[in-house]
Amino acid sequence: MTTTGMISSENSLLFETIVNDLSEKGYSVNSNALPHELSSQLLEQLHVMSSKEFDTAGIGRQQGHMVNNSVRTDEICWIDGNSEAGAQWLAWSSELREYLNSQLFLGLFSFESHFAHYGPGDFYKRHLDAFKGESNRVLSVVVYLNPDWQPEDNGELVLYRDETDIKGVKVTPSFGTVVTFLSEQFPHEVLPATRDRYSIAGWFRLNNSLFDRIDPPS
Ligand code: OGA
Ligand code: MN
Repeated sequence: MTTTGMISSENSLLFETIVNDLSEKGYSVNSNALPHELSSQLLEQLHVMSSKEFDTAGIGRQQGHMVNNSVRTDEICWIDGNSEAGAQWLAWSSELREYLNSQLFLGLFSFESHFAHYGPGDFYKRHLDAFKGESNRVLSVVVYLNPDWQPEDNGELVLYRDETDIKGVKVTPSFGTVVTFLSEQFPHEVLPATRDRYSIAGWFRLNNSLFDRIDPPS
């Protein structure tokens, strides 16, 4: 994609902040940041989805894919453009992708994302979303869809600055919060919550397709 579309005014401040934060520290946390209309649509979509649309989450890709519930216990549903909410979300992520490419020359080519549901007590242990040289995931984005999240609900995302960081930065999974970070650089984990916790996790990727070999998502 070489064309850069217009950035809608409600996104321009957020996108600028993300670009500045990424170039300064490699991650960006923004509360109340996803356009409210979009967050509401996505929440509405979660309400109409039945629990059977979610699958137990695994780790690794394709044939290496394994369900390992000592690492993560959430359930996920990949997002396509078939619902209005899904289509709006993909349009938003595409706008962000083009803006990042125009400002940071990241060469982001594609995007994959899923809803995630963590029931009370569910977790995702400390992990990296991409390993150097093994994946084309460049940038992770997480948004939260939990209205009225209270500190005592727990369920924070903890973002570690590098392999040696044990303290990390805690992020409350509040409605409309948008987190972005470099996928290979920031180990992170999801702490157990006392109530249902909903997020979307997505990854901007480089183009890994070679000739007739199309690299599929997930
Ligand atoms: C993931 C992930 C974080 C969150 O799905 O890889 O780290 O807060 N999710 O849901
Ligand atoms: Mn992750």
